[in-house]
Amino acid sequence: MDTTELQKRADELRQEISYHNYRYYVLNEPVVSDSEYDQQMIELREIEAEHPEWITPDSPTQRTGAPPSERFTKLRHPAAILSLGNAFDAEDVRAWYERIGRLDERVRETDFLVEPKLDGLTVVLHYQNGIFSQGATRGDGEVGEEVTSNLRTIRSLPLRVPVQQNGIEIPDSLVVRGEVFMYLKDFDELNTRLREAGEKTYLNPRNTAAGSLRQLNPELTATRPLTLLTYDIVASDRTFWATNEERLRFQKKIGFPVVDWTYCKDIDSAIDVSLDMVEQRYNMPYETDGAVIKINDLSLAEDLGVVGKDPRSAIAFKFPAVEVTTQLRGIGVNVGRTGVLTPYAFLEPVEISGVIVKQATLHNFDYIAEKDIRPGDRVLLKRAGDVIPYVIGPVVDVRTGDEKPYTPPRKCPVCDQEVEHIEGEVAWYCVNAACPAQLIRNIEHFVSRGAMDIVGLGIKIVEQLVQSGLVKDVADLYSLSKDDLLQLDGFADKKADNLLTAIEESKNQNLSHLLTALGIRGVGEVGAAELARQFENIENLSAATFDDLLEIEGIGPNIAQAIVDWFMSSTNRKVLIKLHDAGVWPESGTQMSQRESAQIFSGQTFVITGTLPEFSRQQVKEFIERHGGRVIGSVSKKTSYLVLGDNPGSKFTKAEELGIPIVDEEGLRKLAG
Ligand code: IVH
Repeated sequence: MDTTELQKRADELRQEISYHNYRYYVLNEPVVSDSEYDQQMIELREIEAEHPEWITPDSPTQRTGAPPSERFTKLRHPAAILSLGNAFDAEDVRAWYERIGRLDERVRETDFLVEPKLDGLTVVLHYQNGIFSQGATRGDGEVGEEVTSNLRTIRSLPLRVPVQQNGIEIPDSLVVRGEVFMYLKDFDELNTRLREAGEKTYLNPRNTAAGSLRQLNPELTATRPLTLLTYDIVASDRTFWATNEERLRFQKKIGFPVVDWTYCKDIDSAIDVSLDMVEQRYNMPYETDGAVIKINDLSLAEDLGVVGKDPRSAIAFKFPAVEVTTQLRGIGVNVGRTGVLTPYAFLEPVEISGVIVKQATLHNFDYIAEKDIRPGDRVLLKRAGDVIPYVIGPVVDVRTGDEKPYTPPRKCPVCDQEVEHIEGEVAWYCVNAACPAQLIRNIEHFVSRGAMDIVGLGIKIVEQLVQSGLVKDVADLYSLSKDDLLQLDGFADKKADNLLTAIEESKNQNLSHLLTALGIRGVGEVGAAELARQFENIENLSAATFDDLLEIEGIGPNIAQAIVDWFMSSTNRKVLIKLHDAGVWPESGTQMSQRESAQIFSGQTFVITGTLPEFSRQQVKEFIERHGGRVIGSVSKKTSYLVLGDNPGSKFTKAEELGIPIVDEEGLRKLAG
């Protein structure tokens, strides 16, 4: 390339990268893979290294993130929230080590920590006198978006850390950095829930975590299974640590969830540990896109300083890209428990990082249409931390012209009945209640944990029960005899007895479990618990009107309609009668547990101070009283507990002086059991 061409290329890269930054950081909707993005950054950095005179102040190399969006209040970080330089192989890591070794000879003797690089969203958490006071996203590294209320919904985030512990004084002002992300298991469960409710599913845990945190409704954040691990202290008015490891230990000791780290005595061992992590990446419970190697000695780290936005003392060892292309042989369709049709890809088998992949997720029919994925296409596949890879899109350039656009089936692939689409939802449904595919999924759901919890009734047995005609609906489980079971493959005396006992015991499940088990569209464990609490038994619920149901917290018009429809169906009514006759007919379990627990706080007094995250004071007061406790206005030696919210008043100081146990809202709920 001659000079003018090279300069043009640099401009083009800047524009493209800025656009991808915007898609990734502002919209949470990237259109390229991380490795393509990294590749573009590397190319631009190389050009700019050769021609530093071309660097523009707005070049993406001059900053590492996008500006915070206008919708949030801005929060200035107490110190720059730095990023990390990248290494793509062991050689890059050694080059980094040599570079910093030339700057400071102490590097040759130093030790390291290796941590997984969590693929989530950086957060900066402020604690004043041990209380979580505010928190922000990274933003541009100087100023972030204030998302305190959303952060508060994250269960693993400590709302308060003890002010004194084992002789250690907690700094009055402490700012901790960590990563908010989602465990893969939680992500999968969330998507299953959304799919079954006919809603749009999410593409990957990172975007889901980012989208859930960077939106303005904390109630929505609270329904997303976000979690937190911390790995740094950004500012503190007192320090008790000389190394990264001591600092992590301190964080852990005072109650922060802390990233796993491995101590390495030298760079060779740090490289070995990072390479091991590459091998282990799919065994991790969360997505990682690399390992972070950090110099352990904090004063050496400080002295090494910063280049641009990257500290010299640490480097991200990025994992190799896990994207490949292969041929899409065809598109299959699964039928789920609620009749939702889910498309998946049949692939020409291909290896991605040691695993042969033959099938991949295609999300939903809208996704196929949006990306114009056609059978016969060469497609780009990505295997993220997930075990099930997904199709990113077609490689349009290599089309032969014979590939025809895909049309979703109009009939259920299992029972051949017409499928239906609900206005406003992405999913297509098979609405035939007698569809065997649905029946199997329905029973699988009915017996699962959180529902009737019938241990030992796995999918293979469910399939046999349906195929042999022994079970035509969930209620038939309760009329199975030992002889019935002994006819099935793999059943001997003991196994049959065990299963019958488990089925019998499931009759004791409470109403909320039974409602979950019935699998009404959109009614998950949380909704079922609320319905059980409000209606107390199946008769009341079945008589509820659409309007009655709309009154219930968490029940919107779609779910209300689904509940009404469910009880209208004559098939379902027959199932209910059979369940009733079999003795599966609980009264509200919550009522019971309230009665049982009524005495839990009896004789105890509570004082409330500050603003509580979820409930009003009146609600908390009622909660305590329902459990037999009393709420009074001021703290004394006799106070049993102080319930602590945000911006507490002098009651907090007084309670601390008197050594009164302090709980937050969640702690209070736990106390009540
Ligand atoms: S250390 C000066 N440690 O990776 C401290 N970062 O590419 C620099 N990240 O913005 C960060 N896991 O969001 C560090 N164990 C870990 C990390 C980690 C994930 C993220 C972080 C940062 C990005 C840099």
